[in-house]
Amino acid sequence: MADAQDILSLCKRRGFLYPSYEIYGGVAGMYDYGPLGTALKNNIIEIWRRLYTLGEGFIEIDSETIGPEMVFKASGHVDEFADKMVKCKACEEPYRADHIVSDLHPNAGALSEREIEELIRKNNVVCPACGGELSNVEEFNLMFKTTIGPGSGRVGYMRPETAQGIFVNFPNLYRYNREKLPLGVIQVGRGYRNEISPRQGMIRLREFNMMECELFVDPEDKTWPRFGDVAGDAIRLLTNDGQEMEVTVGDAVEKGVICNQVLAYFMWFTQEFLKAVGIDGEKLRFRQHEKDEMAHYAMDCWDAECLLSYGWTEIVGIADRGCWDLSRHATFSGVEMSSFKRFDEPQEIERDKIKPQYDKLGPMYKGKAGKIGKAMEEADPENVVDGSITVEVDGERFTISSDCFDVVKVKEKVSGVRRVPHVIEPSHGLDRIIYSVLEHSYTQREDQTVLRLPSAVAPIKVGVFPLMARDGLDDLAAEIDQELRFGGIETYYDESGSIGRRYARMDEIGTPWCITVDYRTKEDGTVTLRERDSTSQVRVRFHDVLKVVQTALCGADLSEFVINE
Ligand code: ATP
Ligand code: GLY
Repeated sequence: MADAQDILSLCKRRGFLYPSYEIYGGVAGMYDYGPLGTALKNNIIEIWRRLYTLGEGFIEIDSETIGPEMVFKASGHVDEFADKMVKCKACEEPYRADHIVSDLHPNAGALSEREIEELIRKNNVVCPACGGELSNVEEFNLMFKTTIGPGSGRVGYMRPETAQGIFVNFPNLYRYNREKLPLGVIQVGRGYRNEISPRQGMIRLREFNMMECELFVDPEDKTWPRFGDVAGDAIRLLTNDGQEMEVTVGDAVEKGVICNQVLAYFMWFTQEFLKAVGIDGEKLRFRQHEKDEMAHYAMDCWDAECLLSYGWTEIVGIADRGCWDLSRHATFSGVEMSSFKRFDEPQEIERDKIKPQYDKLGPMYKGKAGKIGKAMEEADPENVVDGSITVEVDGERFTISSDCFDVVKVKEKVSGVRRVPHVIEPSHGLDRIIYSVLEHSYTQREDQTVLRLPSAVAPIKVGVFPLMARDGLDDLAAEIDQELRFGGIETYYDESGSIGRRYARMDEIGTPWCITVDYRTKEDGTVTLRERDSTSQVRVRFHDVLKVVQTALCGADLSEFVINE
């Protein structure tokens, strides 16, 4: 197995990845994508985007990366988005507490502060850098804080996930979707987390790339129309009670291992996407979070984990976020964040309703009491938080405590019901996916590196070479190169060094095909087409090259183009 050093040095040498601000000594947890890395990243994004938009009919947005404090108060990140930290008492080096005891427990991420401290004490764990004694565990909030505009009063945060940009736009997007569920929304963009000690190359970055999907569904209908099509496909699971199993997606739902069809379908979907971009299906599993390990918003969560030289590593988190985010934003903003489910026939229902005590509101809010009471009557009792309801009247927010209202049952004839949708979220860490694809594609052939990248993600699709840079061979190769590029295919024209060296350079960056123009081309109008993984070569017609390459890149049979010797 390649180790991270092999991958990172290849990435730097060949222009996939550069440490950021290298001329100033670099910054831990920050990398820049070079030309090949950018192309690889764009190709992976495009495959992901198309699977969701064309395949599933989801829509895409692009929201702000900085948000006002209220957004992240509502989302829970300001108060809850923290990792456990220990510091060396001697050299002050900080460490993620669960990582420092990871060899001592199978799932250290689920341990409490106390349990970690106990493990440290019992096993005499010391600072890996200087051997110093470690501090007690403390919480460290990962949010990057900033100000929006001049002045200190306008606190803002860099988003730790793209998801909130989708949640706060829910009313707009629901309207755009003509008020129908399910509503699937995707977003690609940067997330920012002030990680405690990023030491694992591309795995733990402070600024990273995410591809997130927020799928809003009816909370009472977590079935999925295409579930039947995939129910027979296998998926590898590690449940939160430690069972490892390979089961069909259908069985996993039937036996209650995965709690609903939507979650299971998108786990399968994630698996197929990851395999399509070059992740080895044999080194992929889905691990269920333990209750104590789950993010503050999640009802159930499975991580797609990849086996890397770092060990099993989370690359995608797939969570059922329930109604957490929309309910919280409804409460904090006072804006309705629900969907409307219309019945076939009007129905009489019994429901909870807020009944204001006007005799108490009157003295407290004087002339505004009437309007406040009306807003309370219209508010959803589900938005009562810690016994209080918040309403907005004439642009002003009022939080009314429960001694000023009752929640009563009322009977009404209604044409439908409003419900806060639940959210199923596949959240992909793009940088971790890119790293995993590189590690799983990395092979050695006679001391040469060959990146067996799938054609669809390879940054360069075809190397084009003249055998000699003279006698008109260079002009013919340049003609092919231009035809392919104008046909939308990324090429690399190379006329320097031996032909073997040129093939090796292309193998090392994962280019699946090479075309060589030689003296025979001038005689019979054919060129050599070479395949990266088998190194096999065939001759095809100069004039067929574009069609041949298009066919080859689709993985289709080339025999109709092959010229017999
Ligand atoms: P971890 O436990 O490794 O810190 P997480 O559980 O906090 O990760 P999520 O909050 O589920 O991660 O984030 C969704 C995805 O974003 C992860 O599956 C991962 O691929 C990616 N991700 C999270 N944090 C980072 C980071 N610091 N650098 C790169 N990618 C990250
Ligand atoms: N949006 C999922 C996460 O960042 O955890």
